[in-house]
Amino acid sequence: MRDVAIIGIGQTPVEEHWGKSLRHLGHDAIMAAMRDAGIETADALYVGNMLSGELGGQQHVGALLADFVGLRGIEAMKIEAACASGAAALRVGLMAVASGMHDVVLVCGVEKMTDAVGDEVTSGLASAADQEYEVSQGISFVGLNALLMRRYMYQFDIKKEYFAGFAVNAHRNGANNPYAMFRSPITEATYLKAGMIADPVNLMDSSPVCDGAACVVLAPAELYRSKVKARILASAVAIDSLAIHDRRDPLALDAVTVSSQKAYAQARMTPADIHLFEAHDAFSIMAALSLEGAGFAPRGAGVYMASEGEIGIHGRLPISTMGGLKSRGHPVGATGIYQVIEVVEQLTGAAGANQVSGATVGMAQNIGGSGATVITHILGAA
Ligand code: COA
Repeated sequence: MRDVAIIGIGQTPVEEHWGKSLRHLGHDAIMAAMRDAGIETADALYVGNMLSGELGGQQHVGALLADFVGLRGIEAMKIEAACASGAAALRVGLMAVASGMHDVVLVCGVEKMTDAVGDEVTSGLASAADQEYEVSQGISFVGLNALLMRRYMYQFDIKKEYFAGFAVNAHRNGANNPYAMFRSPITEATYLKAGMIADPVNLMDSSPVCDGAACVVLAPAELYRSKVKARILASAVAIDSLAIHDRRDPLALDAVTVSSQKAYAQARMTPADIHLFEAHDAFSIMAALSLEGAGFAPRGAGVYMASEGEIGIHGRLPISTMGGLKSRGHPVGATGIYQVIEVVEQLTGAAGANQVSGATVGMAQNIGGSGATVITHILGAA
């Protein structure tokens, strides 16, 4: 297997892109990444996307984007793993380059959610859950996370305000990210008075519905030595049941644990070696459970990391360093690529006011469904 490097990155701002279609968003990110890498063509394009068919009536997004960016003739396809589609596409690209099948591969995550009305988006997102056993009962994705959060608060005797630090941290970091959807810091008071969506999940516990695209260029590290921005030290996937009731323990995200442990083993590292963690903080409860599952906090104690001294830029383990899913935004199939770009920015000293000092190793974890597909990448500085 060859070592694989990221040699170019490109992203669009995350926002409600009413003036741009899916293909234009993908185009902008891909062209920006190609310019950044200084390349004019590629062997393949893998596109992470979840909802193009359901919300836009458009499948076949691999060919659509490859053609639109002028790469007719190359290999291109869409990869889908719900909200983990971006990282899933990255893993496919990584396997293609590591195996020697391709040299230069584009991996783009793209999602256009805001052209559809609320109900359509809610039912589209719910397709990440188990239709037969969960969604048919009338529950939404926010509702599933509300059940998890309620159970966590009950089982570990946690008060709602303990979660505030996750949103406060994300919004503080997002304020300095020009690509973030929400660029205003919030306080604990803002968190506590936010409108309830599905009790106990309020607006500040939840990532937004939004649009965006992000792209990275992969290549063999040896052949592109002068262009290497970061190296992919580990890539691991683990799955669990889609339905939460089928799991060993609803509050133990086993796929997070297995995926993280596989990644640590590949990189020959432990959680203590990770300098920053781009967590899948689609909901505050997911941030807490991910920190526990990935080995950064004991069972029932992930929520106690929600303070500046722990997860802030200068904290013990900075998370959501460019705003995370909560503040940068969560254009679902694109998120995994945004997370990886943010790690690259940290490792190349390009994170501006949010720079984590001395960062040489970063981990990005992208979760599909409420913990059913978990994809972990560990990146190292060039
Ligand atoms: N955090 C902070 N502010 C938010 C927000 C969020 N997550 N979502 C929306 N807002 C703000 C908007 O900017 C807008 O502010 P404004 O009035 O100052 O312009 C206001 O809230 C209303 O926005 P709107 O788009 O009408 O919100 P909504 O009520 O239709 O939707 C949610 C809000 C939380 C229900 C929706 O974002 C949602 O469903 N989120 C979950 C998405 C999800 O499940 N993703 C998959 C996770 S794996």
